[in-house]
This record gives sequence, C-alpha cells and structure tokens, in this order.
Amino acid sequence: MSRPLIAHADIPRNRLNLPETIWWQDGELFLLDQTQLPLTVVGERQDDIEQVFASIKALKVRGAPAIGVAGAYGLLVGLRDHQQQPLAEFIKLIQQKADWLGEARPTAVNLKWALNRMVAYAQDCTADSSAALYEQLVQEAVRIHTEDRELCRMIGVHGAPLIKPDTGILTHCNAGSLATSEFGTATSPMYVAHSEGTAFRVYADETRPLLQGARLTSWELQQAGIDVSLITDNMSAHLMSQGLIDMVIVGTDRVAANGDVANKIGTMAVAILARHFGIPFYVALPYSTIDFDMPAGSGIPIEERGEEEVTSFGARRTAPEAMRVRNPAFDVTPHEFVTGLITERGVVLPPFAENLKNQYSE
Ligand code: MRU
Repeated sequence: MSRPLIAHADIPRNRLNLPETIWWQDGELFLLDQTQLPLTVVGERQDDIEQVFASIKALKVRGAPAIGVAGAYGLLVGLRDHQQQPLAEFIKLIQQKADWLGEARPTAVNLKWALNRMVAYAQDCTADSSAALYEQLVQEAVRIHTEDRELCRMIGVHGAPLIKPDTGILTHCNAGSLATSEFGTATSPMYVAHSEGTAFRVYADETRPLLQGARLTSWELQQAGIDVSLITDNMSAHLMSQGLIDMVIVGTDRVAANGDVANKIGTMAVAILARHFGIPFYVALPYSTIDFDMPAGSGIPIEERGEEEVTSFGARRTAPEAMRVRNPAFDVTPHEFVTGLITERGVVLPPFAENLKNQYSE
C-alpha cells in the first residue's frame, strides 16, 4: 500500500535546525524515515498501529528515547477509532495494544517505559468517557515527548564541561538528535559545548551492520557544523594508539541497576579498548533508560536481527549464499568499564548500584 510521504521542506525542524524525528500534528503521527537517510529526507504518516509497529521494527524510527515517544503516540493511533467503546472496555484495549506494541523491539527499555506510563495514566485517569480519556492520553504523550526534549538538553548541560578544548571524542552508533526528541544523549554534550564555542573533534564509528554512524551521526553532526570524521569500526584502536581520542561518549538502550550498559553491538569492544588506552568511557542517558527492575546486564534481552543485514552491504550481497549468520544488535558493557553515566541530573560515578539509587531515590 502506498503511504502518504512528507517532503523534506514540509518536515518541521527542531531547535538544532534538524528535521524532527517524530511529530504529532492535527491528531496524526508522522515519523522521519531514518532508513532513507542521508540520501533522502522524507517523512511518513502512520495510519495504523500495525504500521507504527513495522516502522519501529524496521528502524524507520530508532534510538531508545525516540522509540519510547513513537510508542506513546503509536498507541494513540491504535486507539483513536475505538473511542465509542464503553470506558472499561477502552481501558482494557489500551493495555492490550500497549502490550502488543511493546514487543516491536526488546532491548531498549524506553519503549515499554513509555507504554507503561500511558497505561498507568489511563488507569488512574478520572475521565468519564473513552473520548475524554483519549484526549487526556494525547496530552500525556505530548508530555512524554516534551519531557524528552528537556531531559536530553540537561544531559548536555551536565556533560558539556567534560569536553575540554581540542578534545577528540569517539562515539558509536547514533545517540543523537535522530535517536531522541532533539539534542540526543551522547551528542547533547557536543551540541551544548559547540554552542558555547568549545572546539573539539568527533570520530563517528560507522557502526556495522546498519551504519547508524555513517548514515545518521555523521549527517546530523555535519549539519550542525561540528568537526566530525567518519571511521570504520575497526579503526578506533589505531586512532586511540595515535593519541587522537581523549574520551568516548555513547548512548544506551538500557542501563541495569548495577550500571551495566546495553548499547549497539560493538560498544563493549570500544569500552575495552578505551580501558586499555586509559581513555574515559562515558554513557549518556535519561532516567527513562534506567531499568531498576533489572539487577544486572546479563538479564537484558538482546535483539537478534535478520541475516540479510550481515550478508549484504546496503543492497549488495557480500557473503556466500546459504551462509550461517549471527546478528545480535546490541551488547552489554560491564559497569567496570564505565567511567561515568551522564544523566539529566548530573554525572553519576561508580559505585553505580549505590549512586544510581541515591540519585533517583526521590
Ligand atoms: O538499533 P538502533 O539504531 O535503535 O540502536 C540505537 C542505539 O544503540 C543507541 O545508541 C541507543 O538507543 C541510545 S539513543 C539515545
């Protein structure tokens, strides 16, 4: 079925003057199609919840905070034609649809966090009709979205002082504006430091197999006027050995209560290299990415994706036919390798189990 596409010029822009990743307009959900970047900048209206599920699964919208926000709005898309139902039935439906949409991707906890927040809001809401509840839920989804903008900006405020003049920063995957509502997580200290006039260099790992670093991070940083160089994933050890990298900042899909960090596959290798070369390894995240119910990273579900992502480079097949493949999309960096967690409340240092709990106890 052909989907209504939104041309580049018609996509709203955020405060960084980058295209919005997600926007809700006149009761409809729109997503920037990130699978087409950087060659084509196009948005897509999401007409039903099945389409939203497919868009999350296909990484049209991706990055932990962004899939949380898309999930909250996506739930509304699945509910808007059911507002005539009796209130008790409507609330049951909200739970069912949230449970289903939450299965679109397993590793980033933000998707389930946002959906659980929508369900809890619905269950506590005193609206006297399904239509009134729906309207209240729209406001809650908008709050989740607006809050994410502010959380990410504050990560930048706390993280920017870590970036000294002439620092070389390595990042992996895309934990940028495209992965969130605006400033990104790993990129937020970079955007804030840049706006304050600090000069620094970024090295973006290309991030096989789906090339989020090459397609997305280098694209958004380049547009923001930040000094960025793209490298392939196997170049970082060499650059570290040459003294070109002074710090690593990455994002995360889920932080366990002990500080273990799930992030894009390859992150753990970067952390181990950073330890070898004595380079600080920071992880940037909003509170919605912390899973206090997950004691350690070993319990975090790791998404396995299709083999074609590994057997091909773009549209071109690069492996023999019938090749056996493994394609874990994430890995878990043990907390011992993490120098600090840059959050909206400040930089949390080890011991993480204790300090995370203290930071978020009220
Ligand atoms: O598979 P993706 O592109 O959704 O993976 C994204 C990442 O691993 C990001 O680093 C993480 O979600 C943090 S986004 C602020």
